[in-house]
Amino acid sequence: MYAISLGDDGAELVPLEVWHAEELLASIDRGREFIGRHVGLPDVVSDLDGARAWLTSYAGKRAADGGGVHGIRLDGKLVGGLLFRVWDTPSGVCEAGCWLEPAAAGRGLVTRGMRVLLDWAFEERRMHRVEWHVSSANEPSINVARRLGMTREGVLRENYPHRGVRTSTEIWAVLAPEWRAARGHASHTSHGGIPQEHSERTARPAAAD
Ligand SMILES: CC(C)(COP(=O)(O)OP(=O)(O)OC[C@H]1O[C@@H](n2cnc3c(N)ncnc32)[C@H](O)[C@@H]1OP(=O)(O)O)[C@@H](O)C(=O)NCCC(=O)NCCS
Repeated sequence: MYAISLGDDGAELVPLEVWHAEELLASIDRGREFIGRHVGLPDVVSDLDGARAWLTSYAGKRAADGGGVHGIRLDGKLVGGLLFRVWDTPSGVCEAGCWLEPAAAGRGLVTRGMRVLLDWAFEERRMHRVEWHVSSANEPSINVARRLGMTREGVLRENYPHRGVRTSTEIWAVLAPEWRAARGHASHTSHGGIPQEHSERTARPAAAD
């Protein structure tokens, strides 16, 4: 199976498949409290059946070109993941997300991995806009959005009930021309990668589903 090196510290970006359910559960268990402070992923991946069901839903998204998930390994051990929770090819808009075990935080793993995935989204898949939906209380994730060159576009006030508490969601995003300018890439299209047909967008909650 392929793995993309994220540097010389043994960090790799790898596909995450249904058969990784036990590894995913073990990783979430190591970070259950830390990860669950702002996102619902640990509540969905509550046991092995939950892990399998969640990975199966992402396998379905990938098959339908509607999203996908990658794992981050450090010296072979699964320590986190990156996902496209929403992927809409007709509009060129997608939404990315992430998680790490606490022991793997502070090393740039998510920023490095997301740069690989954003290069792929913008350059290979010709997406136009990548969004980042984050709780306004989630400073580490907001810092990731900043490091990725995203712009804070607004706040959905108290839109997301997380574990019984209404939280607000900040919407951050980076556009293809901004990404290319920041990465020093030449634009390959004159229309900024905008497909001919657009689909209606609907508001979506900032959950890690
Ligand atoms: C959000 C989350 C992934 C951020 O983790 P993180 O480790 O801070 O993010 P990164 O992996 O990009 O690492 C950045 C940190 O590593 C440091 N770093 C070290 N080497 C680096 C490198 N090569 N590149 C970038 N940053 C590097 C940065 O300085 C930064 O540390 P600092 O915040 O102390 O300055 C993590 O807090 C988490 O999983 N939270 C729970 C789940 C969650 O909230 N997910 C997001 C939902 S929107």
